[in-house]
Amino acid sequence: MALPELTEDKIELNSFLPEDAPQLAAIGNNPKVAQFLRDNFPSPYTLQQAEDFISMLTLEREPSVFAVRFNDELAGVAGVKLLEDVQRKTAEIGFWLGEEYWGKGIATEVCRQLIVFAFTYYDIIRLEAEVASPNKASVRVLKKNGFKREAVLRKGFHKNGLNYDLLIFGLLKEELANSLFDGVTR
Ligand SMILES: CC(C)(COP(=O)(O)OP(=O)(O)OC[C@H]1O[C@@H](n2cnc3c(N)ncnc32)[C@H](O)[C@@H]1OP(=O)(O)O)[C@@H](O)C(=O)NCCC(=O)NCCS
Repeated sequence: MALPELTEDKIELNSFLPEDAPQLAAIGNNPKVAQFLRDNFPSPYTLQQAEDFISMLTLEREPSVFAVRFNDELAGVAGVKLLEDVQRKTAEIGFWLGEEYWGKGIATEVCRQLIVFAFTYYDIIRLEAEVASPNKASVRVLKKNGFKREAVLRKGFHKNGLNYDLLIFGLLKEELANSLFDGVTR
């Protein structure tokens, strides 16, 4: 009888490389990925747009946008954005994955790693995420990582001619479970 394999999938957040552009365009060029993302996400997503996105990241002063790698393959993008002015103690997180990588628990781990990064790297007390209400997978990922639903902006998300409620989720530093910091990669 064959024993079950004891390998574990590797989920990492790290820097983009110029050679990631074709895979970035391939996984990003999907209306199902774009459906609940902001309009600055290109749809269709061309190779040129992927190349421009990666070159723009090289100009960033702070690391804030990461390649999501699943067993070393580029699977998506994750980012943290520090807010300004009276919201400067808050950062917003966001993430997306290519459709072939959905349903494997990747985003749940990506979200955990973003939380660890954001609260370690930035002098913040709060993380936020905004989600269109039909995006159940994203809501679940945030809740599994301890985010609380804080507000509903009724019909606050307009995309492709449709209006959805926009949900605001928040996580305070003081609410963090110690277990979140048990190693950044798994
Ligand atoms: C949202 C997204 C990142 C989730 O990635 P993922 O790796 O599939 O997420 P995970 O596998 O870690 O977890 C998904 C959870 O949602 C649940 N789920 C998925 N679809 C669901 C649905 N229609 N209704 C309810 N729950 C759902 C899964 O069962 C899972 O929960 P579980 O672990 O308790 O079973 C991915 O679907 C995506 O990239 N979507 C397009 C871009 C996007 O919307 N990004 C988020 C913007 S806020």
